[in-house]
Amino acid sequence: MSEVQVSEAEIAVHWQEEGYFYPPAKFIGQANANDPAIRERFAEKNFPECFKEYADLLTWDKYWHTTLDTSKAPFWKWFVGGKLNASFNCVDRHLAKYRNKAAFVWVPEPEDQVTQAITYQELYRRVNEMAALLRDYCGLKTGDRVTLHLPMVPDLPVTMLACARLGVIHSEVFGGFSGAACGGRIADSQSKILITMDAYYRNGELLDHKVKADEALAVAEKEGQKVDKVLIWQRHAGTYSSKTPMVKGRDFIVNDVLQEYKGKIVEPVSMPAEAPLFLMYTSGTTAKPKGAQHSTGGYLSYVAGTSKYYQDIHPEDTYWCFADIGWITGHSYIVYGPLALAATSVMYEGVPTYPDPGRPWRIAERLGVNIFHTAPTTIRMLRKLGPDEPKKYNYHFKHMTTVGEPIEPEVWRWYHHSVGKDEAVIVDTWWQTENGGFLCSTLPAFDKMKPGSAGPPVLGIYPTILDEQGNEVPRGSGKAGNICIRNPWPGIFQTVWGDPDRFVSTYYAKYNKKKDSTDWRDWPYFAGDGALQAEDGYFRILGRVDDVINVAGHRLGTKELESAALTVDEIAEAAAVPVIDDTRGRAVEMYIALKPGLKPDKQIEDKVSAAIDKLIGKIARPKNVWIVPDMPKTRSGKIMRRVIAGISNFTSPGDITTLANPEIVETIKHHVESEKVKSGQTPRELSQAEMEEIKAFGRVE
Ligand code: WT7
Repeated sequence: MSEVQVSEAEIAVHWQEEGYFYPPAKFIGQANANDPAIRERFAEKNFPECFKEYADLLTWDKYWHTTLDTSKAPFWKWFVGGKLNASFNCVDRHLAKYRNKAAFVWVPEPEDQVTQAITYQELYRRVNEMAALLRDYCGLKTGDRVTLHLPMVPDLPVTMLACARLGVIHSEVFGGFSGAACGGRIADSQSKILITMDAYYRNGELLDHKVKADEALAVAEKEGQKVDKVLIWQRHAGTYSSKTPMVKGRDFIVNDVLQEYKGKIVEPVSMPAEAPLFLMYTSGTTAKPKGAQHSTGGYLSYVAGTSKYYQDIHPEDTYWCFADIGWITGHSYIVYGPLALAATSVMYEGVPTYPDPGRPWRIAERLGVNIFHTAPTTIRMLRKLGPDEPKKYNYHFKHMTTVGEPIEPEVWRWYHHSVGKDEAVIVDTWWQTENGGFLCSTLPAFDKMKPGSAGPPVLGIYPTILDEQGNEVPRGSGKAGNICIRNPWPGIFQTVWGDPDRFVSTYYAKYNKKKDSTDWRDWPYFAGDGALQAEDGYFRILGRVDDVINVAGHRLGTKELESAALTVDEIAEAAAVPVIDDTRGRAVEMYIALKPGLKPDKQIEDKVSAAIDKLIGKIARPKNVWIVPDMPKTRSGKIMRRVIAGISNFTSPGDITTLANPEIVETIKHHVESEKVKSGQTPRELSQAEMEEIKAFGRVE
């Protein structure tokens, strides 16, 4: 095995620098952030007071006295002394001016069901009635936790805002997660109440969802947490759409109970700025999930500020964030951020391609959506299944967002040209569940765009790239390392629920040299992503640091390999995984899915190898290229690389119960294993450590 000595943090980088795109003049003219002095206002010398500008977007019951308290570092406290209520800020205060404006426009998945516009007045009513029910029927009070396991229906934000009204901490578990996953989170947060739904539509089917509640309660009980009440919203009010029996004395239909609370008004509880607003568990299949605890004042200020300047939301816009509220993106950029700004926020129940890949563009056309926000996985899916659909519909976006993983420049360009019709500005926003809101992004009216780069840090964020020893990688050098944020910001989570040690050890211990320091400069936040900063100051995110394939000492980023594969015309999706190799340590294997209508063909495989050869180098040439019908994906759309890594190495693909398409695993496994056996590639027995490495590869949590 040839040895190239590299630091663990350093990933070999072969990306070519992309050319720039410029924000359209029409966008610049109307942008919220149009004063060039804004960067100066958020310059490091003005930290932390600069964030007053975000906090001032909110209505406070009591103004704060200390902007940032670092006395218990790294447990930062923002806007100390201040009091406010999140539900009041997202609903009540808009009534005077926007009573009759839609807060949400909800689009059911079946196209023959009617779209629902919920005005701020109607939202106010629903939130108050639900708050009354939670308080008086369930006995919930300030500081209690309640677990929500709700799909993309208006009852979800209504329930969240009802909790916020009472200072009850909500913990929404993504609707697509299993009952067992929900149960673990109920136990961890010690919730006594579960709020769920009987059924919801997905891909044309009315799925039984209540069935998961029974499983969740069993798991929670095994872990020591007993749930007193299960509240069940009905997907079709008045009808129970689940085959699962109701448990007497435990299960209650929300729609029925609510009748007793018609017209009830609940005074919003004035909460300290540092009171927790909600928990958001980072999805996990192996390690125990972490409950990221987000604050009321800091979080709400941060999502309001970034929604205003980076999403460019004005009250008159129709804003559609095509994500699930069960993820942090939905909490911050479907519910709290947009509603704090009195926006009209579109919610869609179902899958992007139901009943056909023109659906999103029909919704956009019909509702007059002008701001569109989604993830690369959705963009790739729509590009794969309906590359020419957008032009059939008459909608116009001024602004589009991509979030969740690095976007391949090829895919970015399709998004810009085909979806955005060359007239929208794009922001590529890098951040994490733990962060509350954006960390890197171009400022849409000011910065040129560079496909595949998140761009400069957002206002008030000062990142750095560190090597394994904690030395700064020279700024603008294009060298990879671990991206860290040097300073606290109002949106950062407060702790891991119930496990402050894990909070410190996972995110801060790595680069902290003085444990007792109360100076924020001693506590860089370790994000766990590899990144580089180009000469122009733009950050390019290379993916999780544990997603790297080490070929003969060269640390190759999976994203870079996948991006090279995507330059081949025929390719719709690509995933790179390591295979244990006795000469090179690890070799690369590529899995690819083709655009529709194309048949697997040796020539396409060769083109992929040639593209990787050319763009990255011979060292990265894949040992095998496997053309597969689809990638194993989580319900959030992330490719589960560990599953195909398991197949490539003849080990178990591991737990596949959280996949959206578990059936694909057997198909891929059969194909790959039989081809490998045919060509004499049966591997030796793997060591325990090798097996562990494959099992943990490309973890999505
Ligand atoms: C991880 C966090 C933040 C909401 C959705 C994901 C990756 C996120 C980008 C981006 C490159 C990105 C990172 C990060 N990621 N956005 N624009 N470019 N990578 O939240 O599930 O907590 O995942 O997603 O690797 O660490 P999450």
